[in-house]
Amino acid sequence: MNSLTKDSLMSAARVGLGGDTLRIHGGKPLTGRIEVRGAKNLVTKAMVAALLGDSPSTLKGVPEISDVHVVRGLLEAHGVVIDSPEPGVLTLDPSNVVSAHFAEINAHAGSSRIPILFCGPLLHQLGEAFIPDLGGCKIGDRPIDFHLDALRALGANVKKLDDGIHLTAPDGLTGAHIELPFPSVGATEQVLLSAVRARGTTELKNAAIEPEIMDLIAILQKMGAIISVEPNRVIVIEGVEKLRGYLHTAIFDRNEAASWAAAALATRGDITVGGAEQQELMTFLNVYRKVGGEFEVLEDGIRFWHPGCALKPVQVETDVHPGFMTDWQQPMVVALTQADGVSVVHETVYENRFGFTEALNEMGADIVVHKDGIASITRRVPRRKLEQAAVITGPTPLHGADVRVPDLRGGFSHLIAALAASGTSTISNVGIIARGYELFLDKLQQLGAEFEVVATEA
Ligand code: UD1
Repeated sequence: MNSLTKDSLMSAARVGLGGDTLRIHGGKPLTGRIEVRGAKNLVTKAMVAALLGDSPSTLKGVPEISDVHVVRGLLEAHGVVIDSPEPGVLTLDPSNVVSAHFAEINAHAGSSRIPILFCGPLLHQLGEAFIPDLGGCKIGDRPIDFHLDALRALGANVKKLDDGIHLTAPDGLTGAHIELPFPSVGATEQVLLSAVRARGTTELKNAAIEPEIMDLIAILQKMGAIISVEPNRVIVIEGVEKLRGYLHTAIFDRNEAASWAAAALATRGDITVGGAEQQELMTFLNVYRKVGGEFEVLEDGIRFWHPGCALKPVQVETDVHPGFMTDWQQPMVVALTQADGVSVVHETVYENRFGFTEALNEMGADIVVHKDGIASITRRVPRRKLEQAAVITGPTPLHGADVRVPDLRGGFSHLIAALAASGTSTISNVGIIARGYELFLDKLQQLGAEFEVVATEA
């Protein structure tokens, strides 16, 4: 069994999916209302932040996704007592944090990248941390050099082992001046979680400022931290000796909201995403409108629908916040296969995030991936060597096919494509989708999708 299938099965089992392969009967618009809860990209980090407190924390809006189970398992392996007094609420008590065994950490982590964020809190609590080999979605190399350089700058000793990394900080961590080569989300979080209890002040330049990072900073401030976000991507963290637990409701999942919005467009449907908020989606909403998608901001969500006439092609490039987020491009590419003309999507954040387009082409799409990007009059000066471009020519009717989910967002795109396509599709490895999409089968049912869970692959 390959590691992707193993991950998918574990992920499906964690949230009780009851199967790992779907048979989808497409061609029907998705219509209705679904709810989104806390963001995967915040909740998992907020859970790690609880490690830094000297009293219990309470996190609300926690979605039922398998990444939450992964982090819960990792925290419990380190002695954190976690309870769920009601659905969507977690209490985390870090009073008795202990070192965990390598094997136990490995067993819980699977291919998740979250363990890297345990470094700072564990160095503060225990003076050492072990991080197993990291995976996450297979969307490029996803190195951790920025993380390790930042930890070294803060005073950690980093030793690479065969099966992971061992870190020590016998004298504690000390504030430092750090400049990231790229505004990495994870590395910014690494510095926040490590510098917050370091001796002295840390100045972080070229920091990521995604809404989930701002929410993490809000949590840390509730815990007693002193963190200021200054102009030009500078974050200053004045270390404090002690932090207490927090009470916090997680920011909504803007990536899930954007995915359902794209699903409405691709299937000629009408979906209200309860819990979605305009502020964090403004860049997405601009592109949605340019494509011809309709939306209405409601008091408690956003309604997205297909205009009933031809969609328009666009040129879009992914970027760090406040740009067009890389996680939005895969679902939008599916909608763009139905636009009348040639769209271009530049990916500038990851080096390999168009693998999912192969399956779309099998379903009848016309997508050409240019591995080195392409020149364009509207393209800004390239900043990184890794960028690629997808040229999508539409409209192309989609038809059913048998596809395997490659990663989280790519997998959701396959789901949308199968729902938009005529005929039947079989999608395997759908457990991967459960890493970040809460109760997605229930939601599909609510929206009128026709599908069956056919098998759990062995
Ligand atoms: C987070 C999000 C993910 C999102 C991404 C970019 C989570 C759990 N995941 O991922 O959904 O797509 O931000 O918004 O929050 N890089 C390095 N060295 C490093 C770290 C990163 O070269 O040490 C590179 C990566 O390979 C990538 C780029 O920096 O090309 C951005 O990665 P980063 O922002 O760190 O993404 P994640 O935090 O992993």
